[in-house]
Amino acid sequence: MATSVLQTVLLVLALLLCISSAEYLTVDSFINHSQSYDGGLCVNLVEPCGYTCSEHTIQTKDGFLLGLQRVSSSIVNLELQSAPPVLLLHGLFMGGDAWFMDSAKQSLGFILPDHGFDVWVGNVRGTKWSHGHVSLSERDKDFWDWSWQELALYDLEAMLRYIKSETSSKVFVVGHSQGTIMSLAAFTQPDIADLVEAAALLSPISYLDHITSKFVLNLVQMHLDEVSFSSLIQIYVNLILEVSYIKIFFTGTWITGNTSIKHEEVFCFPFLLFFSAFTRPRLIIDDIYAVLSDILTNIIDLACDGHVDCSDMLASITGENCCFNSSRVDFYLEYEPHPSSLKNLKHLFQMIRKGTFARYDYGSLKNVLQYGQTKPPSFDLGQIPESLPIWMAHGGNDALGDVIDVHHTLSELPSKPNVLFLENYGHIDFLLSTRAYEDLYGNMIRFFKSCGMSRSS
Ligand SMILES: *[C@@H]1O[C@H](CO)[C@@H](O)[C@H](O)[C@H]1NC(C)=O
Ligand SMILES: *[C@@H]1O[C@H](CO)[C@@H](O)[C@H](O)[C@H]1NC(C)=O
Ligand SMILES: *[C@@H]1O[C@H](CO)[C@@H](O)[C@H](O)[C@H]1NC(C)=O
Repeated sequence: MATSVLQTVLLVLALLLCISSAEYLTVDSFINHSQSYDGGLCVNLVEPCGYTCSEHTIQTKDGFLLGLQRVSSSIVNLELQSAPPVLLLHGLFMGGDAWFMDSAKQSLGFILPDHGFDVWVGNVRGTKWSHGHVSLSERDKDFWDWSWQELALYDLEAMLRYIKSETSSKVFVVGHSQGTIMSLAAFTQPDIADLVEAAALLSPISYLDHITSKFVLNLVQMHLDEVSFSSLIQIYVNLILEVSYIKIFFTGTWITGNTSIKHEEVFCFPFLLFFSAFTRPRLIIDDIYAVLSDILTNIIDLACDGHVDCSDMLASITGENCCFNSSRVDFYLEYEPHPSSLKNLKHLFQMIRKGTFARYDYGSLKNVLQYGQTKPPSFDLGQIPESLPIWMAHGGNDALGDVIDVHHTLSELPSKPNVLFLENYGHIDFLLSTRAYEDLYGNMIRFFKSCGMSRSS
């Protein structure tokens, strides 16, 4: 067929181009890239704005080493020991930097310290600000064997326990997107909920079966997560997020609608995967060529097929954001996106397909071994203590946190959370809106203060 001949020609051309730029082809350079932020989040983003910031490393029960930053304001005369601690939980493909990406006046990571809070910035496993694992390397397949369920039950738990031990106080929690999935799942566990003073959930998610994000729905329909060469897709997920020039291709050009992409940037993409598979021998699979032609040359086309306008990639994923400042995209892309695991994406796709808020589904047989039952156990929102104060903000244009799904979550909670609905907000506005303080964070801070900022311990 003409298309397959054309594809072959393009692939050979791309191979030649890529070989001539060998720097793209080693896994080491990706891993080096991911660790190239000397000095961490404090030095890079927080201290330059005049805030006090300290770096902490904590260990989860399953051996991951997470970075945690403590931020306080120099303009507030603050007795740190009496300021209420707040933990910030970023979303998928983001890290703790997400809370400092907006202008200083609109970033929650700066606003909260200015209002007298003792701010702790969480970074989940696998992100650039986490510090690996006690025994596994990032190159090990097992390093990536987790989903949001481990982020909830191990990462969040470890963060809360550490902050409680440092401050002798229960902790206010703020989550965005995946940060809210983690929170809602973790709060169903009484011993974790007991560490929390109150929670603010931005674009809260527990059910995902009504998402309207066409890009995501197309990916889900392709069942990429269910095919046998999943370890290769894991590399794909990691590398896509790691390599800065692909990053710019994959997000930047589409966010800005600037389609003047260098050809080699597009064509090198499949070969990166190919060569990286060989430098990670444990992950080599037999049908690598099939993968190349089936997925790598078509994935973007497919995901953008039909009615998704990929000239505005961000909106096609997150929904139309009312207040996103696109002239700051270059700055955002210096830090985002962060890596995540393929298993995490699979788990999210399971939620979309099945409409459940449950543990990872391994398939009936393995579920029995893992959980002692054929279906994965649900996270029962009804178990979240009624006494735990919750505030939520969600948006009418949010393609990932759909209004129907948010109401489903609300209907299962024993308590009646304070809910702020912003008609014109998309998924990213909750983090990066140019009016975030006026629209959102002021309201959230009043809620936290109304919770008494009690000094329970
Ligand atoms: C990665 O970093 C290590 C140590 O900093 C260095 O020895 C190595 O040459 C780097 N590799 C690449 C491909 O940049
Ligand atoms: C698109 O990107 C190219 C290359 O990076 C740049 O020269 C050009 O000015 C950009 N165009 C717009 C409209 O931003
Ligand atoms: C958008 O970002 C640019 C560059 O940082 C800034 O100059 C401009 O004031 C911002 N616009 C708004 C509405 O915040």
